Amino acid sequence: MAHGRFDNPVVATLAGVKDFFSKQELADRLTGSDRFDGKTVIVTGANSGLGFGVAVEVARRGGHVIMAGRSGIPEKGEEVKRLSGSDKVEMRYLDLSKIETIYDFVEGLKKENIKPDITILNAGVALAKGRKSPSGIEEMFLVNYLSNVILTNLMINENVITQVLKEGNEIPRIIFISSDSHQGSSYIDYDEFGVFEAYGPSKGISNYSYFKLILNTYAVELSRRLNKVNVNVGVNVICPGPVHSEIIKEAPKLLYFALKSIFRLVFRSPATAALPVVYLSVSEDYEGKTAEYLHMFRYKKMDPKCYEVDEGKKLWDRSFELWRSIDQKAKMIH
Ligand SMILES: NC(=O)c1ccc[n+]([C@@H]2O[C@H](COP(=O)([O-])OP(=O)(O)OC[C@H]3O[C@@H](n4cnc5c(N)ncnc54)[C@H](OP(=O)(O)O)[C@@H]3O)[C@@H](O)[C@H]2O)c1
Repeated sequence: MAHGRFDNPVVATLAGVKDFFSKQELADRLTGSDRFDGKTVIVTGANSGLGFGVAVEVARRGGHVIMAGRSGIPEKGEEVKRLSGSDKVEMRYLDLSKIETIYDFVEGLKKENIKPDITILNAGVALAKGRKSPSGIEEMFLVNYLSNVILTNLMINENVITQVLKEGNEIPRIIFISSDSHQGSSYIDYDEFGVFEAYGPSKGISNYSYFKLILNTYAVELSRRLNKVNVNVGVNVICPGPVHSEIIKEAPKLLYFALKSIFRLVFRSPATAALPVVYLSVSEDYEGKTAEYLHMFRYKKMDPKCYEVDEGKKLWDRSFELWRSIDQKAKMIH
């Protein structure tokens, strides 16, 4: 059964075109004085598209950028250095379809006592066909959802993202890159949760938006659990709007070229789409704020289901069960 709002890639792309013309009331809130000096920023999937644009902009604004990804090492890091004029840029290997690399990545940060001020969970795929990852979990579900659960829980459990508010320190921020296409997806179907299914392009596009609804529901629940009394970690979600990126690279060839021409004409460049992400990551406007959602430079609410307490709790428990079913070391924060 399809759970997402769209099951046609052309209709989904045209919805993106409509977004292109929407009013951006917060656009002038990001100024040149919003800088990352002294801050460490992790960006997953930073070798391409939006993540690459964010990496350049963060480095240009003085941040130490850790580009986490599975390809483009080291050349994409060198390109970010060149474009930003900063050498505070490094690349680290992380393949979100291979769980052991998430452990290695977090272990590396821990060993070097790297505590990111901002963690941007950007990596994502839009697969046209269901594909099994080495763990047996379907790859798009794993990369776009479950691996983000694993990565964030490991980083918090290993004290890489620290919950303790130190005197004078700004609180860490976690940003989930989502998609406004999540709006209108169905309630989470636990009969199908994490179950491998060989889907085609229509179900693929539907799953993409549905998995973003699951991701957002997790983000709100993570925020609840980290911030029971005070805000210790800001956990926020953003849709970058339509980005001229490689997100459709797995689409069938004809469809790829048709969609690419729309992307080229009206979608935003990664450099432009990165700006609201940078705003949410660094602006004082979001200091101490959590469970907020931006659609580009617009205030918005996520789909109401994402805020339901029972849904969040159930998702948390079922995500833990699923993680534990493929990994004995699974451990969620309390
Ligand atoms: N494009 C849009 O219009 C749009 C709209 C709304 C939301 N978004 C969201 O924006 C985010 C970035 O996408 P994009 O549009 O910039 O597409 P993109 O150019 O394809 O970038 C996706 C990034 O994710 C990485 N990635 C994919 N699978 C991975 C894995 N197994 N392990 C580690 N990294 C992996 C890719 O690495 P490789 O190069 O190695 O594959 C790439 O760096 C995604 O979360 C997407 O859902 C995009």
